[in-house]
Amino acid sequence: MKKLLKLNVNGEEHELWTSEHKTLLEVLREDLRLTGTKHGCELGECGACTVLVDSQPFLSCLVLPIEVQESRIETVEGLAECGVPHPLQQAFVELGAAQCGYCTPGMLMSAKSLLDQESNPEPQKIREALAGNLCRCTGYGKIIEAVGRAASLTQTSKDTNNG
Ligand code: FES
Ligand code: FES
Repeated sequence: MKKLLKLNVNGEEHELWTSEHKTLLEVLREDLRLTGTKHGCELGECGACTVLVDSQPFLSCLVLPIEVQESRIETVEGLAECGVPHPLQQAFVELGAAQCGYCTPGMLMSAKSLLDQESNPEPQKIREALAGNLCRCTGYGKIIEAVGRAASLTQTSKDTNNG
């Protein structure tokens, strides 16, 4: 059975008819073609499917889209602005914090939520914020370092803009 959904994703309003049993992850990837959000365990264990709902990390494999119709959804596709990568994306590239990259979109979204709330988190705070995001490749050290570096890049850019 199909249902009309209204979703705000990365600042854009979408209206679509889709099967009512689909998860938010499936709607993002299959209906909206936003395939940056990754399909991992579908059990709430890996964090690959993390998106932000009203700025908080949510596992999109466990969310029904109808539950978030009134919310702002952010995915990795919305991170760059006008073609300029987000500081987190810059830092991940500079420090080699992505290898196969499968966990990276989820990591970036969890880290964005943290940095939006806390501009200069301690490494332990970063570890806690990313505890639900599993990576099979990097050993986490570079990822933690990259989030710290992104916090510095964001601060430097704010200082420059403030003059
Ligand atoms: Fe959602 Fe693994 S795919 S937590
Ligand atoms: Fe491969 Fe994290 S970079 S799973």
